Amino acid sequence: MAPAKAVVADDHVAFPAGSKDTALTKIDMYGLEIWEGTLPLIDMGGLHGPRRSDTIKQLAHACQHYGGFMLKNHGISEKLLGDIMSTAREFFHLPEEERMKLYSPDPTSLIRLATGFKDDKQNVFVSRESLKFHAHPIEKYVNLWPTNPSSYREVVSEYCVAAKRAEITLLEALFEGLGMERKSIDQILDNHGQYASLNYYPTCDKSNLGLTFGLRGHTDPTIITMLLPDEVPGLEILKDGDWVPVKPIPNTLIVHVGDVLQGLSNCRYESLLHRVIVNSETERLSIASYCYPSNDTQMGPPKELIDDDNPLIYKDYTYEEFYTTMWKQRLPDAARLNAFKISAA
Ligand code: OGA
Ligand code: NI
Repeated sequence: MAPAKAVVADDHVAFPAGSKDTALTKIDMYGLEIWEGTLPLIDMGGLHGPRRSDTIKQLAHACQHYGGFMLKNHGISEKLLGDIMSTAREFFHLPEEERMKLYSPDPTSLIRLATGFKDDKQNVFVSRESLKFHAHPIEKYVNLWPTNPSSYREVVSEYCVAAKRAEITLLEALFEGLGMERKSIDQILDNHGQYASLNYYPTCDKSNLGLTFGLRGHTDPTIITMLLPDEVPGLEILKDGDWVPVKPIPNTLIVHVGDVLQGLSNCRYESLLHRVIVNSETERLSIASYCYPSNDTQMGPPKELIDDDNPLIYKDYTYEEFYTTMWKQRLPDAARLNAFKISAA
């Protein structure tokens, strides 16, 4: 089915017809290729050869000025991207009572189905249904995963391992781009975890479109989030005060800077505010891999990032403290980090 037109507002078209660039990317002042006026498009293949240091600079600019990027040549095969999407679609097309066997309201569950909900205070419906689960180390969790659809464990394992591999390569590059020492990088990457989510956004009745979101504006409480969207638009990022749709590119991932990376980088990188809108014609799916540190990881910025020009903003705190505080505060965005500011002490 064709992507729903209604979700792309005309005033967000970045490159007017007739401009020299009928291509959908444009080069910005840092030499980054910008996709439809939204996020830089980065070739991860560049990390594996003579272009490594240039690619690291591109990644650093992308995180600093855009809060994320689109990622091609990430090493996850086209077949696997197709397989995980089909498996997710099959799962969400199972009868409700089959899916609901995995329902849990407890956010600490090792696997749980979360359903859409009405926020009575704001009078909006948040329609995402998601299956969320821990995925690293995989042998610890795979036996908790569903066996319906029958491809689930094999395909989801394969995808999570491949996504994790790409994440580690990427994180090493991002940390290197910040100027972090090897010791600090290892401290964060040792024993870090992976939490994944299959996201399903059902179509929405036309008359309810104004009061329905797939997800409301938020930042992710992660180091980075790696998102595989299907071909249906819906993801929007806040850019210069406007919500701008990020049009999916086939076989290309979307990477967001999360709050943890904002904290670790002493605000050099800023986490990306994003939301999902729905449409009345086409369901939408996405697969998210959330990369987070182990509970006892110290999340204050490493000392090598601090100097007279970059005074320390955050004190030392563990990921566990961050996470516990987050659930108490129930804030949707990086304001969660304010509790850990030196000035808040
Ligand atoms: C998320 C998220 C966006 C999407 O899972 O945190 O923002 O497009 N997902 O599904
Ligand atoms: Ni998100």
